[in-house]
Amino acid sequence: MPLFLPHFNIQKFNTLAVPAVANYFVSVQNDEELREALAFARTEKLPLLILGGGSNIVLRADFPGLVIHIKTRGLDVVAENDEYVWLKVAAGENWHQLVEYTLDNGYYGLENLSLIPGSVGAAPIQNIGAYGVELKDVFAELAALDIQSGLTVMFTNESCQFGYRESIFKQTLKDLYVITSVTLKLNKTPALNLQYPALRSALKEIPAGDISPEQVSAAVIAIRQSKLPDPQQVPNVGSFFKNPVVPVGQFESLKLRFPHLVSYPVDDSHMKLAAGWLIDQAGWRGKEVDGVRVHPDQALVLTNPGKREGKLILQLADRVIASVEELFGVTLEMEPRVYP
Ligand code: FAD
Ligand code: EPU
Repeated sequence: MPLFLPHFNIQKFNTLAVPAVANYFVSVQNDEELREALAFARTEKLPLLILGGGSNIVLRADFPGLVIHIKTRGLDVVAENDEYVWLKVAAGENWHQLVEYTLDNGYYGLENLSLIPGSVGAAPIQNIGAYGVELKDVFAELAALDIQSGLTVMFTNESCQFGYRESIFKQTLKDLYVITSVTLKLNKTPALNLQYPALRSALKEIPAGDISPEQVSAAVIAIRQSKLPDPQQVPNVGSFFKNPVVPVGQFESLKLRFPHLVSYPVDDSHMKLAAGWLIDQAGWRGKEVDGVRVHPDQALVLTNPGKREGKLILQLADRVIASVEELFGVTLEMEPRVYP
């Protein structure tokens, strides 16, 4: 039986370093302990927070229930052919350590996703993405426990309904499943994705044919370190808002008013706007309110240097949303999940 710790401080378990207490906290090392933790929550009628690295949550207040910290381990090649390897990874494995493991073993496809904090089990929740690659590009299937029935259910790439920072686990199946493992389909020969302009320009000195996946990973790490604060030093959850997707008509009228608007095509009828640029133009970059700051190097990141309460972070987020709405008529949506 895993150890249930009552009245537990979870400040060190969320990368915004918000001070908050959970009624109960338990770390689970394997699926059996996870089942026991879920049974405890059912018996005690406790609300649940399934926690990985805590790098994409905002704690609005103390958590009046059971926090289950997923610490399961394991990486197994479950199938392979001449071209691909299928790697099954336990939910509690660290994402970046997984990226390093794949590069060390000659399995390719994760290099653009280097240095994203957090756990493997959380990666499908928002279909993590960076530098032109998303989890869905390498995802084969996942196993999850149905919290109500305790049954294991498999989800294919299609049934996860992945989108930009989206999946079925943030929509109709929100908080109904615990992901226990993720299986990735990785290349045995490098197939590099260098379409992201900042990445291409970081590697421009190397002839295209000579670029290795390790060099892509190193370039991604260098770009990230140049603009994103290290949560160990400055508490944050990465991008605080999603980049808004707007209809082409709205984009065109904004572009007339703001010729420098930063945007990317999504499909024939939609454009994605750089939320960091919008927040920056609204004058928020580097501003601080109540010990919560808009990051000076990347206005899309809110930081919590004063380790203040979650409600103060959410208050600043509301003010940023209101300014961007007023100036551009665009409503920003938060990326991290808010608890309780
Ligand atoms: P947590 O914060 O612990 O949880 C996030 C959500 O997932 C919660 O709703 C939680 O309940 C749920 N969850 C966690 N584990 C499970 C599970 N096993 N089963 C079911 N639900 C679960 N994200 C990107 O996409 N791209 C980036 O480039 C990126 N850069 C970042 C940079 C920094 C500096 C930081 C701090 C964050 C960044 N993020 C980025 C966000 C974050 O790293 C990812 O969302 C990551 O997947 C969160 O993992 P986690 O384990 O910390 O999740
Ligand atoms: N910009 C500004 N001012 C700012 C911030 C950005 O003008 O203060 C401009 C930049 O100059 C650039 C554009 O906005 O032209 C986009 O900025 P950047 O390349 O830094 O990327 P982003 O759109 O802000 C997204 C993801 C990141 C991901 C990077 C790389 C979202 C919400 N964020 O950031 O993901 O790492 O692209 O792919 O999609 C995360 O989700 O937590 C995260 C960090």
